[in-house]
Amino acid sequence: MTCQHERPRWRRGGRRVSLTFAVALAGMLHEQKAGWWRRIRTGEAVDESGTEPSRTPGEVLRAVIIGAGARGNQVFAELMRTKDIGWKVAAVVEPDELRRTSFAKQHDVPAAHVFRSLDDFLVAPRVADIAFICTPDVTHYTICAAVSRAGYDVLLEKPIATSLPDCLALLDVQQTHRNRIFVAHVLRYSPMFRTLKQIVASRQYGLVRNIRLIENIGHWHFAHSYVRGNWRRREDTAPIVLTKSSHDLDIIAWLMEKDRPAFVSSFGALEYFSERNAPPESTDRCVDCPLQDTCRYSATKFYVHDRGGWPYDVIAPVEAGVEARRRAIETGQYGRCVWRSDNNVCDNQTVTIQFESGIHATFGLYGLSAENTRLITVLLDDAEINGDLVHGRLTVTPLSGRREVKTEVIPVPCADDHHGGGDLALLRTLYEHLVTGAHSHVMSSLESSIASHVLAFLADESRRMSGSPMPVPAIFQVSGMGQT
Ligand SMILES: NC(=O)c1ccc[n+]([C@@H]2O[C@H](COP(=O)([O-])OP(=O)(O)OC[C@H]3O[C@@H](n4cnc5c(N)ncnc54)[C@H](O)[C@@H]3O)[C@@H](O)[C@H]2O)c1
Repeated sequence: MTCQHERPRWRRGGRRVSLTFAVALAGMLHEQKAGWWRRIRTGEAVDESGTEPSRTPGEVLRAVIIGAGARGNQVFAELMRTKDIGWKVAAVVEPDELRRTSFAKQHDVPAAHVFRSLDDFLVAPRVADIAFICTPDVTHYTICAAVSRAGYDVLLEKPIATSLPDCLALLDVQQTHRNRIFVAHVLRYSPMFRTLKQIVASRQYGLVRNIRLIENIGHWHFAHSYVRGNWRRREDTAPIVLTKSSHDLDIIAWLMEKDRPAFVSSFGALEYFSERNAPPESTDRCVDCPLQDTCRYSATKFYVHDRGGWPYDVIAPVEAGVEARRRAIETGQYGRCVWRSDNNVCDNQTVTIQFESGIHATFGLYGLSAENTRLITVLLDDAEINGDLVHGRLTVTPLSGRREVKTEVIPVPCADDHHGGGDLALLRTLYEHLVTGAHSHVMSSLESSIASHVLAFLADESRRMSGSPMPVPAIFQVSGMGQT
């Protein structure tokens, strides 16, 4: 598979360029690409191809799952298989043989629709309506460009791509191939954030004056994914503020609606999960460590058992048995001491965004939290709103002018999916959008999702410059976008 000719000139030859240069180039593109620029500015999920939804209500949409891992298999395909919401798993592309065959069996995919490579899939007769790209971050650009060229609409896992030029280049790809690319910013679809957005947009409590969003990653999740796992090194993926938190920056931009980000500043560090905090008796691998029975992060305690599901089966599927898991931690990356791994992404980071109005929002990501959830506080003229994603809690406390407070609990449904029900809601909303054209202002289109990525890249740049405020270039003064 080659799509080198679609690479923007400034990425040719694998040479990476500085953010400043990328911004300058993007400015040039701004002159040339009035179409997508207009859509970024307004947040419209406009389909300029003229191919408005032409599907029949009730029709089943056929998805090809590209990457049958945690997201592709256990989330999207599983929801399609178990919920009657109009989706069907029609095909799979997965290089790992064990994953490929077990996926095909579990989701009843006929042998002719099971592919070991994207190239094999692209030359075969067409069997799907939309491609779900659930592969590692670094592959997103290339795979998205290739399936777009083949004319598929796309649901692209976040991050859109691991460099800003590649994110921008996908806007060009979409315009060239006239397909629709949606980003799996699932938090937007969760009932908690959706209800919060509706309350804010209604203006019933006045204007937003401040937002504080906290992403508590959860210490065990952080150790699994960002110390031992695939997102531990920025060189192999991207900065954590992009790979983990594009969701959160997206929520902030979305809630601020037309108010545009003007400056971004950030501090962050790898503070805890580094060798200087290693207990003196600890060893490089948990299996040899005298502390393995007592250590909170012991890989033997965490992984070596017969429980299925994420994150345990990331190291070896439950069918492979406990011994396979033990072998995986004896030799693989998930058996490393959390203080002696080769991780280098921040385990805590704060980001401040100042908007053109002067209002600011703060975001914090924390690896050492007890729970894995998102907490948000929105201060408005007339009320304080608080939300907790995984517990499905949303409260409004009107400002009373007195010490006493009266808090109203807003009921929101929740689901045990780490995204407060956002995964299922995304599938439902995307289905309705593709079939009837509904929800065009809700959809996390590529255009409306780019803002969060720009903010993430700028936050990383600021962090590396000890918190220097980074002006958001005019071309990127993109915001909220989307109604409720
Ligand atoms: N939206 C969210 O909230 C959310 C949550 C977690 C992960 N993600 C993102 O989803 C993506 C997948 O994450 P995951 O946890 O499922 O990873 P995973 O490692 O469990 O699964 C990725 C799968 O892709 C396969 N793969 C690798 N290269 C491929 C290729 N060229 N073609 C087809 N398949 C290929 C791998 O073999 C693997 O099975 C990542 O980009 C990740 O950042 C998003």
